[in-house]
Amino acid sequence: MSASGDTHPLLSRLLRKVGASAAEAPDLQRWRALLALVARTYQDADQDRYTLERSIDISSREMQGLYQDLKRRTDEKLAESHAVLRATLESASEGIIVVDATRSVVAINRRYAEMMRVSEDAIASRDHHRIIAESMTQIVDAEAVRATIEEIHASRDVFHDELELRDGRLVDRYSAPVTLPDGTHAGRVTFFRDITAERTANQELRAAWAAAEAASTAKSLFLANMSHELRTPLNAVIGLADLLLLETGDPITKRQREYLDGIAQSGRHLLALVNDVLDLAKIEAGKHDLALEPVVLQDAIEEALTGLVPLAHHRGVSISVQVPRAVRPARADRLRLRQILYNLMSNALKFTDRGGSVTVSARDDGEQIRIAVADTGIGIAEADLPRLFQAFEQLVTPSGDRPTGTGLGLALTRRLVDMHGGTIEVESALGSGTTFTVRIPAG
Ligand SMILES: Nc1ncnc2c1ncn2[C@@H]1O[C@H](COP(=O)(O)OP(=O)(O)O)[C@@H](O)[C@H]1O
Ligand SMILES: [Mg+2]
Repeated sequence: MSASGDTHPLLSRLLRKVGASAAEAPDLQRWRALLALVARTYQDADQDRYTLERSIDISSREMQGLYQDLKRRTDEKLAESHAVLRATLESASEGIIVVDATRSVVAINRRYAEMMRVSEDAIASRDHHRIIAESMTQIVDAEAVRATIEEIHASRDVFHDELELRDGRLVDRYSAPVTLPDGTHAGRVTFFRDITAERTANQELRAAWAAAEAASTAKSLFLANMSHELRTPLNAVIGLADLLLLETGDPITKRQREYLDGIAQSGRHLLALVNDVLDLAKIEAGKHDLALEPVVLQDAIEEALTGLVPLAHHRGVSISVQVPRAVRPARADRLRLRQILYNLMSNALKFTDRGGSVTVSARDDGEQIRIAVADTGIGIAEADLPRLFQAFEQLVTPSGDRPTGTGLGLALTRRLVDMHGGTIEVESALGSGTTFTVRIPAG
């Protein structure tokens, strides 16, 4: 058997170095040299192993450090987001219960415990069935509600209803499945909101509304009666004064005639005022219905003008009407449109000095008919424009006096235009005339 075949290459090299072989025993000198070499080799190996062990030791300690650092940071993050979730739950105004897919309670807040008077113990137990059992003592028709809880948890739907509590409180219950982004069903969250105050407020509001409605009906009724009561004697006063003025049999003195004129004029003014006030009140009470129909502008303007021609004559102001034939009719209440035009045209005449002019025009403006009443009169200061459409607002004229009138015309006009679904605008400057523009849907 050849020993060299089994000899480790390192040993063969050492043998060769001292000039010996594995086949025969070496002499003493070589033997010593060989032992010295072998001893050095062992020492080298020891040194290597030591270095290796140290480096393994160092890297494993580093790894451990890294791991611990990572773990600490992850734990901190987790604790932080847990605290945020907890605080969020607690700051909600709703009672909240979150259960997982196996119906163990994942989260529950104090608000729920308060609302349903559930004990600290039950909350701490996180036992859904125990929490439900305690909650049920507060609930009217507990058996039916218990059944709905089972139904809710067996389903993946959203539930929304109201629970009646024994002490009269009303709780809104909203329950939704919790689904993770990957589609896994993770459980269910249910919100409980005390809506007792809300409900009471609503009922009070409804009661107040009904009372207001009744008051408004009473007011309308009163107005309907009043308009008759007020107008009848006024018409009699005016009519009788007119009759006396026409009387030829028994002549009356000049002074008596002046008095009668005064009675008739004041009567007419008072009647106009009463009509405006009642109209405005009726609109405010929402009792004014429009009879909408296609109204031809030329006709409406013509009709409004009839009553104004004497005034225009008297004031020495010319009126021109410019309405192209092609202008479509407006969708309007014939009488009310006439009233709108009358108000704007009478103002234009009233606030234009002798020699001036008033122009009424109409044109198609897309969906709407645009009607403009322009005058060359005294104009309106910019600062006064916003007050114009308010009831009882009359501006002081440049001459310093208040115009005769009620200050109701424009307030009424604006409301009438509104009721038609239209708009009214004014453009003016002191001393350079005024243009009112009304837009009403085309019919
Ligand atoms: N075309 C106009 N030019 C100048 N001022 C006007 C014109 N139309 C209205 N006003 C001003 O607006 C005020 C309110 O008008 P209105 O509501 O019709 O009331 P009234 O005609 O009864 O005074 C008028 O008193 C007047 O000062
Ligand atoms: Mg007026």
